[in-house]
Amino acid sequence: MAQTIQILNGPNLNLLGTREPEIYGSETLDDLHARCERKAKALGYEVVFRQSNHEGELVSWVQEARERAAGLIVNAGAFTHTSVALLDALLSCSVPIVEVHLSNIFRREPFRHRSYVSKAAKGVICGFGGLGYELAIEALATSLAEAKAG
Ligand code: DQA
Repeated sequence: MAQTIQILNGPNLNLLGTREPEIYGSETLDDLHARCERKAKALGYEVVFRQSNHEGELVSWVQEARERAAGLIVNAGAFTHTSVALLDALLSCSVPIVEVHLSNIFRREPFRHRSYVSKAAKGVICGFGGLGYELAIEALATSLAEAKAG
């Protein structure tokens, strides 16, 4: 059975495609999901792709991933900049975590420059839109293969 990469999306990302398209592009969350499925499959992984507007639900999914996933990709949306609870959940995971943002958060308002998620992440990809999710899958798959090879 293929190993799973869990991809978690935070608040307002359900509105992709119509939400501030000049910043987030025209791809919908379903488009992103399909893109991730394709990329992961090509690299021999299955994907669990989820979105929630609720911090506690995201925390529960991280706890679930801790037991079941080979790796985790997180776009925590605005919770990136606020959530110690999500950081604590991520710090409890021993699997590799990649933080993703569609936009380049460092070109935006100063409050977006601080990320609580980064402290738990192996790496961060931001500013490449949906491509960033594919790059994150590739980075995770490569890290996992390297870890396996010792
Ligand atoms: C985001 C950046 C966050 O600052 C913002 O709150 C989001 C989306 C991104 O993907 O660019 O909701 O995580």
